Amino acid sequence: MKNIYLVGFMGVGKSTVAKVLERMTGAKRVDMDGWIQEKRGMKISEIFECFGEEYFRDLETECLQAIAKETDQIVSCGGGCVLREENIRQMKDSGNIVWLTADAETIFQRVKNSTNRPILNGNMNVDFIRNLMEQRQQRYENVADVVVITGKKSVREVAKEVMKVVGR
Ligand code: S3P
Repeated sequence: MKNIYLVGFMGVGKSTVAKVLERMTGAKRVDMDGWIQEKRGMKISEIFECFGEEYFRDLETECLQAIAKETDQIVSCGGGCVLREENIRQMKDSGNIVWLTADAETIFQRVKNSTNRPILNGNMNVDFIRNLMEQRQQRYENVADVVVITGKKSVREVAKEVMKVVGR
């Protein structure tokens, strides 16, 4: 079985949906941020603070290279992993890419208390989120094989829809 890559903006529910998909399919689940934190022995916020964003993006690329070598995995991707062409290539070559999306207000509600998302440090408001979503929108659109709008759906409903759109 090909990998399933869940991409989309921070707080859209990639990790939560991935956990349900793991139970539904029995496939191995990999969380990119989790993989990176384990690899470096540091939290994402500490990695950004100590080494900067570029270094973090290098770790994302390294993570995807490792993931793409294996099959039958549910991968919850970091929101910014679509920013590098080589990441996109790795994902496309080894799986289906599913874009999960929601509106900026919903996302804000989900991330507002988060302290481990450095991109939003000092920018925790709907306008900033909406703006960054707009900047990345095209990217997600181009990369994804399919889109699932999470909106008011339950996690289980979203997971079922993901299964359907990837043909499982
Ligand atoms: C980022 C998203 C985060 C994490 C890092 C950068 C981004 O992952 O990788 O803070 O640039 O959108 P989540 O989408 O899981 O929050």
